[in-house]
Amino acid sequence: MVPLFTIFLLIVLIIVILVTCFEFFKSRDVKEEGTFLQEPPSPRRLPIIGHMHLLAGYEVPYQAFADLGKKFGSVFKLQLGSVKCVVVNEQRNVREALVTKGHHFDYRPNFERYQSLFSGNKENSLAFCDWSSTQKVRREMLKAYTFPRAFTNKYVALEQIISKETQQLIGNIEGEEGSVHLKPILLKKCANIFLKHFCTESFNSNDAEFEKMVENFDEVFYEVNQGYAADFLPFLMPFHQKKMQKMSKVTHEIREFITKKVIKDKFTSFNCETEPNDYLESLIRHVKLENQKDSESPTLDWEMALFALEDIIGGHSAVGNFLIKLFGFLVDEPEVQKKIQTEIDRTVGSDRSVTICDRNNMPYTEGVIFEAIRLIASPIVPRVANQTSSINGYKIEKGTVLFLNNYDLSMSEKLWDSPDKFQPERFVKNEKFFKPEHFLPFGGGRRSCMGYKLVQLVSFGVLSAIMQRFNIRKVQNESYTVPVGSLALGKDTFKFRFEKR
Ligand code: HEM
Repeated sequence: MVPLFTIFLLIVLIIVILVTCFEFFKSRDVKEEGTFLQEPPSPRRLPIIGHMHLLAGYEVPYQAFADLGKKFGSVFKLQLGSVKCVVVNEQRNVREALVTKGHHFDYRPNFERYQSLFSGNKENSLAFCDWSSTQKVRREMLKAYTFPRAFTNKYVALEQIISKETQQLIGNIEGEEGSVHLKPILLKKCANIFLKHFCTESFNSNDAEFEKMVENFDEVFYEVNQGYAADFLPFLMPFHQKKMQKMSKVTHEIREFITKKVIKDKFTSFNCETEPNDYLESLIRHVKLENQKDSESPTLDWEMALFALEDIIGGHSAVGNFLIKLFGFLVDEPEVQKKIQTEIDRTVGSDRSVTICDRNNMPYTEGVIFEAIRLIASPIVPRVANQTSSINGYKIEKGTVLFLNNYDLSMSEKLWDSPDKFQPERFVKNEKFFKPEHFLPFGGGRRSCMGYKLVQLVSFGVLSAIMQRFNIRKVQNESYTVPVGSLALGKDTFKFRFEKR
């Protein structure tokens, strides 16, 4: 018979083993959640401004991030004013944040400026909201329109819209003499492409209200692309009060135009039994069906739907500004212009106009677009950690703003030959368009850019149509330094001469 004491000892031993196992697995979980992870290194900081002084003297903060990375490693912590930030350099770390742990880093910063640009609620914005079921729905609904599959009805319709507007653009350019201020003309064409594609509406270029709407969108686009010290030091916001009031007026005017001239009576007249014809009708249908359900918290109410519509129509400013920068590069690259023209002549000839359907056979022209995107090195919209997590083994606390340094991925000498040079050939391999894996100009994962396909299609349509007819030449005494680190250009920007081929 086993003595009672031995049984007692055995029970104690089993309990000790169970508790030890439990603690072991618990500690493993905690470690994964980040509690015991190492903090990222960080430079010494100053009171109040933290590390903001380290960004001084650089054209773009991301250049400073790359330089600081050489000293402090690929993941390091910065305190920018009152905001806890982490900078993430190197492809594998950026991918970890965007893709592998994309669901940990799918919020956006809570800057006061974003709140006030979207009626006091940044959740109204497609690009600056945090991840939510509403954002999931908004992205799902958009997909069919922003990523039309090749040769479907939507794609063919888009091809026709782009062709029509680019032919009108050619006509407008031919009608101008000497130097051409292209930006306002081009923005109107891009606006009509977007309005026709998403809302089945378009406007006469001389319509004053339409012109004002295009200007207003451009102003908002410029504003959201600026970085302000006040984003990190909110006590400076009062200095921007006038600007914010102006923005509030501008966004109000955009809303009036969209409601009166684009939506008109479509909300009331749309019959939910029918299939939506465009993105506007998809939004109307969704909101009406949710209203019918009488749900207390609909995923998307009409107010939010209007913001989503405006955000996506506003994408025309992104394409228009990008194209002007692209022409700003090309004016200095006559050889590149010649190569595009040779590709057009070989693929299309001169009897018909180029269309977006020729894209697959024109890898060099496609490469030109990507080379301009690379050199502009527009940043990935900052992300925010929705939970405590890690990158490259370093702890990232919940609420930390993440700067994912795609500037370095676009411009590093380790990744590109002569990165400062305009060399579209780097995007062509075996006579096909080729995008290196480390090149992430549109971000990635669940918050990736919703407009990149439209950027490619519209840019291709406009660039090839112009190059088929003209050489782009400099205007005397005009400087063509293309600003980098942002897509936006000021209102009065480059003028060009268009010389008929
Ligand atoms: C050359 C032009 C453009 C560039 C370089 C660009 C780049 C980007 C980048 C880097 C992001 C952040 C991605 C991330 O966080 O992973 C983004 C987000 C976004 N972009 Fe673009 N973009 C361009 C044009 C457009 C256009 C034309 C549209 C609209 C049709 C658009 C719609 C959006 C939207 C809606 C988001 C936010 C997505 C989300 O947060 O869920 N973009 N873009």
